[in-house]
Amino acid sequence: MMEAAILDAVNGGKLAQLAGLAARYADPAFSIAHGGHVRTIAAGHYTVAGLSKHVRLGEFVAHRSATGIHLGEVVRVEPDVVYVCPIEPGEPIGIGDTVIRKGAFRVSPDDSWCGRTINSLGEPIDGKGPITKGLSPRSIANTAPPSMTRSRVEKGFKTGVRAIDIFSPLCLGQRLGIFAGSGVGKSTLLSMLARADAFDKVVIALVGERGREVREFIEDTLGDNMAKSIAVVATSDESPMLRKMAPLVAITIAEHFRDQGDNVLFIADSVTRFAHAIREVAVASGEPPIARGYPASVFTELPRLLERAGPGVEGAGTITAIISILVDGDNHNDPIADSTRGILDGHIVLDRSLAEEGRYPPINPLASISRLARKAWTEDQEKLVSRLKSLVHRYEETRDLRLIGGYRAGSDPDLDMAIKQVPVIYEVLKQTPGEKPALDAYTDLANALRAAAGQPNPPSAMARR
Ligand SMILES: Nc1ncnc2c1ncn2[C@@H]1O[C@H](COP(=O)(O)OP(=O)(O)OP(=O)(O)O)[C@@H](O)[C@H]1O
Ligand SMILES: [Mg+2]
Repeated sequence: MMEAAILDAVNGGKLAQLAGLAARYADPAFSIAHGGHVRTIAAGHYTVAGLSKHVRLGEFVAHRSATGIHLGEVVRVEPDVVYVCPIEPGEPIGIGDTVIRKGAFRVSPDDSWCGRTINSLGEPIDGKGPITKGLSPRSIANTAPPSMTRSRVEKGFKTGVRAIDIFSPLCLGQRLGIFAGSGVGKSTLLSMLARADAFDKVVIALVGERGREVREFIEDTLGDNMAKSIAVVATSDESPMLRKMAPLVAITIAEHFRDQGDNVLFIADSVTRFAHAIREVAVASGEPPIARGYPASVFTELPRLLERAGPGVEGAGTITAIISILVDGDNHNDPIADSTRGILDGHIVLDRSLAEEGRYPPINPLASISRLARKAWTEDQEKLVSRLKSLVHRYEETRDLRLIGGYRAGSDPDLDMAIKQVPVIYEVLKQTPGEKPALDAYTDLANALRAAAGQPNPPSAMARR
């Protein structure tokens, strides 16, 4: 039919008609899709008969109901039926309703998305009008580039947060986790890191946040970086499917920019809530839990997401990932913290006790590690940091002893030095989100130590300030 219509149009020289037909052919909605019917309905999922041979796990289907077309994800495939988790809970589903295969969920990122906030479906939610779709749709279930084709991670950058730039400096393309209990300062630290000026683009996934925090994060903290940032938001009241999709949509957008050669910062707050969303979806579809209520799929999805960050193939840009991980009841060995720590190239540990002392950001310099720090440090800096760490360690291990007056000054020169210098170091590491990012953390530290020792700062250092 279609071919005959095209021939007709060509022979008749009807260009407009020909263009119309070509557009219809190009429209994915025009292609014939496989369909089935709803067989059973449960609280978190429904089953569809007739699609088992035509869909794959993780693909999307569209369910037609009285209120329109609703998407759902295939979470289990059996010989007779497939299990589908609807994206929006509460949609009216009836036995026998038609369900059509849609394939992978795709987003079409575009440069014009910078400065915008979207939801997990790729729709704008910032009230700034519609967004333009890019020319190349990308599946949110993409996989990472093959490891041997990826360029190496070796270029350091400054985050502007002194405690990180000194003790655990980062490289472009690194994947870093921020581990802490609730309310210790993860989101605040992430917002400070989002202002690093080493990046061409910043893509932020806010998963399961409180609605109030979202505007705060985007409007107050991004500052000048807002123009090069895109936020993907799924708040705590949204469905687990939308919460699960937000980081996947965000990393897909980050990949789009990385492939254009940009250095992208990908921020996810929090990955634990992403894991909770996967758990909710999996439990609803009957997947058995294996560790602390988490099903096996959580432990395959997490590395899949994080592996997508990192350097691109030679010639492309990089995705530097900084993610937050909530450690349940301050237990740093919970299954999500444990499995992510193994996948990442470094972890920053925030201590509740430091926050309680008002030492913000409450980064524990001894427990935090950047596995790529060596590539970011100069030889002198590495030696200096190792010396600083030993001073801090000495100071902390003798804290109780000194408190009860069990140490007499002068008996251990190393400890005497630690007692003099460590409080100065701690003071330099303090930083609030309102402060400007630090341009040169080492110089700040050197100046403070010199001032504490009563030595004047060299003129070059003074000029820089
Ligand atoms: N660098 C900082 N300077 C001053 N105050 C800070 C800093 N970081 C955190 N805080 C204080 O700690 C509070 C909690 O911080 P934040 O919301 O970042 O914690 P969180 O770990 O993300 O919490 P949640 O687990 O609830 O998401 C903030 O409201 C703020 O008062
Ligand atoms: Mg938070």
